[in-house]
This record gives sequence, C-alpha cells and structure tokens, in this order.
Amino acid sequence: MTRVAIVTGGTRGIGKGICLALKGKGMTVIANYARDDTAAAAFTEETGIPAYKWNVGDHEATIEGCARVAAEVGLIDVLVNNAGITRDGTLHKMSFEDWNEVIRVNLGGCFNMAKATFPGMRERGWGRIVNIGSVNGQAGQYGQVNYAAAKSGIHGFTKALAQEGAKFGVTVNAIAPGYVDTDMVAAVPKPVLDKIIHGIPVGRLGHADEIARGVAFFCSENAIFVTGSTLSINGGQHMY
Ligand code: CAA
Repeated sequence: MTRVAIVTGGTRGIGKGICLALKGKGMTVIANYARDDTAAAAFTEETGIPAYKWNVGDHEATIEGCARVAAEVGLIDVLVNNAGITRDGTLHKMSFEDWNEVIRVNLGGCFNMAKATFPGMRERGWGRIVNIGSVNGQAGQYGQVNYAAAKSGIHGFTKALAQEGAKFGVTVNAIAPGYVDTDMVAAVPKPVLDKIIHGIPVGRLGHADEIARGVAFFCSENAIFVTGSTLSINGGQHMY
C-alpha cells in the first residue's frame, strides 16, 4: 500500500531532504510551503513532488489546504511537521510580534496540521507523525527565547499526542536536529556560527539527508513500537 505523506516547509532545507527520503521509501509525497514560490516551482520541477501553498500558522488555511490535498492526492497517512521560522533577538529587543509569530508558526503549525490529519489516521487505524524540534528546544539558545520555547513545546506536544494515538496505530515522534547547512543557519552571523560549530564534537554542520534518515525510520511500517520518542541528530552538540 502506498502511503501518502505531507511535509510542511518541504520545498527547501531539511524539509526537502525529508521529502526525498520519504519518496525514496515509496511514499506518495506532498510538500507544503508558505512563501517562496520560485523555490517551490524549482523543487517540483526537480523532484516531481507537488507543492501546496499555505501558512501552517493559519488554522483555517491549514484545514482547507489539507482537505484540498486529500481530495486531489489522497488521505494523509504521514505528517511531518517541519515548517519553522526564526526571528532571533535577545529578549530585551524582541517585539511581541516576533515572539507571537514564531510560536504561531513553529508550534501552532503542529497543532493545526495535526487537527487536520490526526482524526483521519486515528479512524483508519494507522498513522505516523514526526515533529521537527531542535537542539535549541532542548538546550536553549542565546537570542532565541521565542524559537526555543516553540521547539521545546513541540517536544511536549509530541509526548502528549503519542499517548492519544498509541492505541489507534498512530505513532508520534520527534527529531531534534542540531545545526544543519540550510538557509536558516546561513543567516546566523558568521562569528556566532563559527563559535557554534566549534562546539559541535563532529566538527561540522549537519546535512539535510542526515536528519531525513531519522524521519524515514520513524515513518516506517516496522517502527510501530516507537512512539513519544525524541531522536537527537546534532553531531554530539548536546547530549543528555
Ligand atoms: N552567551 C552569552 N553571551 C552571548 C552569547 C552567548 N551564547 N552570544 C552573544 N553573547 C553576548 C555577546 O558577547 C555580546 O556581549 P558584549 O556586548 O558584552 O560583547 C552580546 O551578547 C550581544 O551579542 P551580539 O553582538 O551577537 O548581539 P546582537 O543583538 O547583534 O545579536 C543575536 C544577537 C541576534 C541573538 C545574535 O547573537 C545571533 O544571531 N545569534 C545566533 C542565534 C542562533 O543560534 N540562532 C539559530 C538559528 S538556526 C536555528 O535555529 C536552527 C536550529 O534549530 C538549530
């Protein structure tokens, strides 16, 4: 049976790597994206994976978007909540809007997407949800109270929903990536990033496919006994 998977923020960065990994496992994959039409068109052209545009931080748009995907492609069996934004700044400089927007997209997006897809997985007795957290949700990060709070929230969200899905064949797990060579990380000022890389025992940034392999494991048929779990993929930057 071909499973239908949706990856939010799937046209670039880690999300793109996840789309390719799940496609490689034989799934029918759909990418969601919110902003960059040019990147989305290039992604579809390169991979053959359709890209659907809506902001996962918008509840109504998400419900409507997932209904469109279900009607045009198929019922969603696998959800990867990958979409995320940064609005970095120390708290004393951070605006309420920068706080709110990061919580709305990074954490609210997980709720909105799960609202749209989890009930169907539960009814059909099979589902996989993988939420992309962050090392910075586990360890905190200077200049990221908004992002760290949202990502930390994702880890709690994962464990709570895992308990609700367990007896319905729906697993809910999280990956906590470290610093990966994406546009998001490239936006970190170079001296700051150099210092961060210096603190990674493996001595380099991660690659999207290294995160994607973990996601593919959680989404596999035989990972049914793995739920509520967090897999850290961070080059040894944070261990606990
Ligand atoms: N701990 C303690 N002090 C720190 C610090 C740290 N980690 N980092 C900076 N400081 C200090 C600086 O030394 C400086 O102090 P002095 O003025 O006494 O020298 C002070 O804080 C101000 O630092 P900046 O000059 O950097 O301040 P800024 O206002 O220009 O920038 C910032 C602040 C925007 C937070 C900037 O430091 C920054 O971008 N940091 C990187 C944040 C980061 O790692 N984001 C991750 C994005 S990628 C991602 O999130 C993906 C993922 O999941 C991993």
